[in-house]
Amino acid sequence: MQIAALKRQAGELAVSFVESGMVIGLGHGSTAAFALRRIAQMLRDGQLRNILGVPCSTQVEHEARQLGIPLTTLDEHPVIDLTIDGADEVDPDLNLIKGGGGALLREKIVAQASRREIIVVDESKLSPALGTHRPLPVEVVPFGWRSQAAFVESLGARVVLRQDGAGHPLKTDQGNWILDCHFGPIADPWQLARKLEARAGIVEHGLFLALATEVIVAGAQGIRHLRRDKTEEMRT
Ligand code: A5P
Repeated sequence: MQIAALKRQAGELAVSFVESGMVIGLGHGSTAAFALRRIAQMLRDGQLRNILGVPCSTQVEHEARQLGIPLTTLDEHPVIDLTIDGADEVDPDLNLIKGGGGALLREKIVAQASRREIIVVDESKLSPALGTHRPLPVEVVPFGWRSQAAFVESLGARVVLRQDGAGHPLKTDQGNWILDCHFGPIADPWQLARKLEARAGIVEHGLFLALATEVIVAGAQGIRHLRRDKTEEMRT
């Protein structure tokens, strides 16, 4: 089955956990977009009512407005009932690398404000150790960014400043830049997270540790619903 079809299965299944009256975190990326469109369809059909969405990026905000999903902010609703978001890599403990789409800071703020964080992926995102398949995005303020790049290199990564289509540094929604940090398999993501968090100029990193409450994985053999306590169910 094609990857897009798997993403669609995972994204749409997650919406079955959305209930009327909830405040929903709206994740960024192509998998979460399937959930977004399904939520909009269920609102139109009357299967869902009184949903308020908190978008994880300006792009998702724009898409949600076009789809007619009512929006709110964390200022108005500091606690989110349920967030549906994608990921770039998922390890066996349901720790994640996120930020491939550049929205890691808002995504982490929304995840930390969420009672339930459902991550939706196709099976290609599963990984024995974070960093095996994807670089770790690290968001930095432009001032002094080369110092932060050198610092991350000293931790063992090859660092690439992410660029936009015109060859300029890609600007995040907060006006920061992103370093894509190629570590290879990360032996101790908790220790790496602590080192990155202690460095001035690093605004956020894409290690989402113990934030996903569950992960929905669509694969050739079916859809698995994984929970952090290591229980797992097949879904249809
Ligand atoms: C956005 O910054 C990322 O964290 C996305 O959630 C991630 O890149 C997943 O994207 P896809 O669902 O498009 O693969």
